[in-house]
Amino acid sequence: MSRITCPILNTKVTTAVEAAQLIHDGDNVGMSGFTGAGYPKALPGALAARMTAAHEAGDPFRIGLWTGASTAPDADGVLAAAHGIATRLPYNSDPTLRTLINSGEVDYIDAHLSHSAQHMWFGFYGNLDVAVVEVTAALPEGRLVPSSSVGNNKTWLDRADRIILEVNHWQPRELEGFHDIYYGAALPPHRRPIQLIDAMQRIGEPYLRVDPAKVVAVVETNHPDRNSPFDPPGEVSRAIADHVLNFLRHEVSAGRMPPTLLPLQSGVGNVANAVLADLNDSEFTDLIAFTEVIQDGMLDLLDSGTLRAASATSFGLSDLGVQRFMSNIDAYKGRILLRSEEISNHPELVRRLGVIAMNGMIEADLYGNVNSTHIMGSAIMNGIGGSGDFARNAFLNFFMSPSTAKGGAVSSIVPMVSHVDHTEHDVQVIVTEQGLADLRGLSPTDRADRVIAHCAHPSFRDALTDYVARANATRPTARHTPHLLDEALSWHQRYLDTGQM
Ligand code: COA
Repeated sequence: MSRITCPILNTKVTTAVEAAQLIHDGDNVGMSGFTGAGYPKALPGALAARMTAAHEAGDPFRIGLWTGASTAPDADGVLAAAHGIATRLPYNSDPTLRTLINSGEVDYIDAHLSHSAQHMWFGFYGNLDVAVVEVTAALPEGRLVPSSSVGNNKTWLDRADRIILEVNHWQPRELEGFHDIYYGAALPPHRRPIQLIDAMQRIGEPYLRVDPAKVVAVVETNHPDRNSPFDPPGEVSRAIADHVLNFLRHEVSAGRMPPTLLPLQSGVGNVANAVLADLNDSEFTDLIAFTEVIQDGMLDLLDSGTLRAASATSFGLSDLGVQRFMSNIDAYKGRILLRSEEISNHPELVRRLGVIAMNGMIEADLYGNVNSTHIMGSAIMNGIGGSGDFARNAFLNFFMSPSTAKGGAVSSIVPMVSHVDHTEHDVQVIVTEQGLADLRGLSPTDRADRVIAHCAHPSFRDALTDYVARANATRPTARHTPHLLDEALSWHQRYLDTGQM
C-alpha cells in the first residue's frame, strides 16, 4: 500500500541523486536523526558523492549540517568522509566526523539539545535553507507520520526554505499514533506555560505538519536504522548500577520520593543500560520514564511491567531490540510516546515533573564539577547532548563513570576537570564502581573528602588526598575551594607528556 497518499507530494517523488541536486554549496541543511534512528538513509550518500567529486576537483562543496543528535555512518559518516561538512550541531558520535572536528576542519557547535530548536527560532544560527527529514508516511493535507525519532524535525520542517522528504518503508506503518508533536510554542515575549503535568500526557498531535508547497522532492527508501549495539553489563557497570539503586532505596526510605520513584531519565551506553537492567531485577514497579531515548533496557522494563510507560524523543535499539519492538508493536502503543527534543528535554518540564537524571561522564573533580565531553581538555568525544538539560533541572541527578580509564592508567576523579560541562552547582551525586558520593548540601572541602573516599580508585586516593592537604596548607586565606593551580593543570598534562593519551 502506498505510503504517500498526499496527492501533491505524490507528484514530487524522485530519486536521491536528483534530490541531492537541490542542495547547494554553503546551504544550511537540517536533517532528521537521533541516536541512529530516523535519519535520512539515501540522500546523504547521494550528496556525499557530489561532494567527493567537488573535493577531488579542488572546488569544495560543504554544508552546515544540523540534526537532532547523532546519526549514522551513512549520514554523518559519509558526509564527513566526503569533506562536505563545514559546521555541525548539536551532537555527534560519528568517529570520522569526530576526527575532523578535532583536526579543526569542521566547526562544531555543541549546544544543549533543548536549545538547538529554540536558538534556530531565535535566529542565532542563520537561515535554514533545506530540511531533509525521514518520515513513515505522507498523508493528505501535509500530515506526516514521523519515524523512529522526532528530534528537531518539527523545527526543520517549519523553518526550512525547501524540504526533501524521505519516506522509509522499513519503518513500521504502525508507528502512527506513537508521537505527540507540540505546536503550541511561541517566541518570547509571547510564550505561555507548557501544559504538561504528567509524563505521558498528550499535549500535541500525532503528526508533523508540512507545507506541501515547500516540498521540492520526495524520495522513497527501504533501509533500517543504525542500531545501537547492546552488550550485557560488565562487572564495573553492574557495581555502579547497584550503588545507584541502593541510593534510590535510601531516598524512598527517607521519604524524599515515592516508592514508584519519580520520572526517570537515562543516558545511553552500557552503564545506563546496567542501571535499567538492575531496576528490572529490583522490587521497583510502576515506574515512568521522561527521557530522551528508548534503549533495549527500557523495552525490558516495559515488558516486565517495571516501567508503566515512557516518553522520549527517539529509539536507540539494538538489532534484537528492533525485532522485539516490531514483532510486538501494538502492545507498546500508548506506553511509548515520542516528542520533539525541545519538549522531551524541556527544562520547565524536567523541573515540574521532578525527573531523576542518570548520565555518564568522562571525569569529575574533587569539588563536583563534571566533564562529559572532552578528553584531556581539548579533544571532543561526543557532546553534551541532553545531559545539561536534565541534570540542572532534575529533582536528583547522578553522574556515573568507571573510576579509571585507559586500563587503569587514568583516574576519572581529578583535582580540576580539564573541561566543565556541569558545574559544582548542578551536580548532586557522583558514582563509580568504588561507591557513591552524595554531594547535596556539602561545602566544597566536604565534597572533596567524600569524592575521594567514595569514588576515587584506591591507586589514586593518596595522590588526591595529598593534593587537597597541600592546597590547604599553601594558601591559608583561600581555603573555600583549595587548589594548586600549576598542579591541577599538570595532573592531565603528565598523561600527554608520557604519551599515555
Ligand atoms: N580520561 C581519558 N579518557 C577517558 C576518560 C578519562 N577520564 N573516561 C573515558 N575516556 C575515554 C575512554 O577510554 C574511551 O576511549 P576510546 O573510545 O578510545 O576507548 C572514551 O573516552 C569513551 O569512554 P567509555 O567508557 O566507552 O564511555 P561511555 O560509552 O560510557 O560514554 C560518555 C561516556 C561521557 C562519553 C557519554 O556518556 C557521553 O557522551 N555523555 C555526554 C552526553 C550525554 O550525557 N548524553 C545523555 C543525555 S540524555
